[in-house]
Amino acid sequence: MKPPARTSWQRLTGRGMYPVEYARWLLNPLRYLIMPPGRIVDRLRLLPTDRVLEVGCGPGFFSPVIARRLSAGHLTLFDAQAPMLEMASQRLAKQRIVNVSSVCGSATVCRSPMRCSTWC
Ligand SMILES: C[S@@+](CC[C@H](N)C(=O)[O-])C[C@H]1O[C@@H](n2cnc3c(N)ncnc32)[C@H](O)[C@@H]1O
Repeated sequence: MKPPARTSWQRLTGRGMYPVEYARWLLNPLRYLIMPPGRIVDRLRLLPTDRVLEVGCGPGFFSPVIARRLSAGHLTLFDAQAPMLEMASQRLAKQRIVNVSSVCGSATVCRSPMRCSTWC
């Protein structure tokens, strides 16, 4: 028998994928204060020509900062939930960041993200 469907709150507070319904929480201004994305991305020591795959990008908390560091490179957004990718892409487009593409798929079943572009 199939287990009953879990609510988004149950998914938020329990096991499983972060619910899209709470995606905005990941962009809470308080988070930018506590965990400035630039400070974390600094640790990656990216080069302007790097090509980065951001697995589980969600709504794009780190994405604009990463993409801006890649002035001659490229950022591929990768997430298992299409609405998350949509939010991240919109945020980047609003900031006129164009060196990005997105792929929807699950990192647990993909050997290469380029091969699972139709997964979700
Ligand atoms: C808690 S959110 C974090 C998002 C973002 N990295 C951040 O720090 O704000 C985790 C994200 O990873 C994605 N995710 C979880 N498992 C995944 C998998 N196996 N493959 C691809 N994306 C996955 C979820 O859809 C969700 O958007």
